Amino acid sequence: MKKGMNILLVALMFLLVFLPVKVQGAEKDEIYERIKQSGELVVGLSADYAPYEFHANVDGKDKIVGFDVSIAEKIAKDMGVKLKVEELGFDALLGALKTGKIDLVISGMAVTEERLQEVDFSDPYFVVQQKVLVRKEDKNKFKTTADFSGLAVGAQKQTTQEELVKNELTGAELTSLQKVPDLINNLLNEKVEGVVLEQPVAEAYAQQNKKVALTPVKFAQGEKTTAIAMSKNTPELKNHVNASIKTINDDGLLKDYQKQANQLMFQDDQSFLQKYGPYYLIGTKYTILLAFVGVLFGMVFGSLLALMKLGKNKFLKALAIIYIEYVRGTPLLVQIFIVYFGTGVLGLDLSKLVAGCIAVSLNSAAYVAEIVRAGINAVNKGQMEAARSLGMDQKEAMRFIIFPQAIKNILPALGNEFVTIIKESSVVSVIGVSELIFQTGVVQGASFKPFLPYVLVSLIYFVLTFSISRILALVERRMGLNA
Ligand code: ARG
Repeated sequence: MKKGMNILLVALMFLLVFLPVKVQGAEKDEIYERIKQSGELVVGLSADYAPYEFHANVDGKDKIVGFDVSIAEKIAKDMGVKLKVEELGFDALLGALKTGKIDLVISGMAVTEERLQEVDFSDPYFVVQQKVLVRKEDKNKFKTTADFSGLAVGAQKQTTQEELVKNELTGAELTSLQKVPDLINNLLNEKVEGVVLEQPVAEAYAQQNKKVALTPVKFAQGEKTTAIAMSKNTPELKNHVNASIKTINDDGLLKDYQKQANQLMFQDDQSFLQKYGPYYLIGTKYTILLAFVGVLFGMVFGSLLALMKLGKNKFLKALAIIYIEYVRGTPLLVQIFIVYFGTGVLGLDLSKLVAGCIAVSLNSAAYVAEIVRAGINAVNKGQMEAARSLGMDQKEAMRFIIFPQAIKNILPALGNEFVTIIKESSVVSVIGVSELIFQTGVVQGASFKPFLPYVLVSLIYFVLTFSISRILALVERRMGLNA
């Protein structure tokens, strides 16, 4: 027995030591093979960054455009495959790359030492300076990095701009946010005094919005090379990407791409609602879908959990309690990331929408379980005794006497849960599901208006939740539930 264990251990160690060598030694670029086979190159980006990547209305349809997208198109074309653009928050891009959700990151990403530890970069395609954007009336106040001492300065989360604020704007206080339009919003509302941005982005805002302007402030480490990120050990893919970049650089194509991007940035022939109404419509559709799926599956799974918790089997009971407490005790945001990236690590390739639906359902189940359990418990104990004394067994008593009464307690609370999920599902925007909050970010980026899109979305949420509460109240009354 002992000997057998030893042999097993040695075999295991052998495997651990030699398996990685063998995989590396094989020198096959699996990622490239997969791209070729599926005929699709998946590029990840954060489209809040005009003129690099942003949403625009092209012939009445929403499209992600910008010079990074043109570069992506060129690479895909050169490789003879179709391009698929995946939109994520900038801070989620490297995670998505490492878990195989995307093949490349083309998102104005600078090459840095820290990133090189995690991923590989192509040859550079762009060298840029960093600028500080301020409110126009303050323009003359800021000449050097020292002038921001004691003031709040904004930068996008997990970017090199964040580092610049920390390292070079001595004494300044960093405000880091996920989306660039939110930073501009904070600037306009005097929550921060400046925002560090890549020069082309800062210029785009200065041109679009008369209230902001660039300062002459210079950074010591302000020059950054922009390149395309990919997984390590993907030599074939890297060769192809670099070949395309070489043509882009040699033929000066970037200038043309930039020109196209600028034209799309400054088109202005329709009203705000005409232009962006469709974005909100799509967002509303997804938000309702998420809430509906969430409550439906939450109900099935949650009822099961409630029965497990109420039942006699100690093991199932413990399982249900652990699940419910754990889910209710951790943020939905974290659960979403765990489902989305975790399934990727396990080799399951879930779409953003499916991952979002699963996360919301799993989360909702824990709450529904408590609703169902409380509903059943609230039924008077005497009811069970009476049913049993009439000769019903436990199951029959549950089914014919307890449940019908419990439903009266459960239904209204489920209605509330639906309203809650409508609001909570907004968190799913982090993985890029096109629900309302995500679409609001898109409209902010495309319209260069940081505030109005939030007002509109709050109205939509309110109309949704208010009408649902009214409908539920009506249904309850019809069913005589609150009699
Ligand atoms: N160049 C900066 C960096 O690499 C920021 C890029 C942000 N890109 C974006 N699409 N929002 O950290």
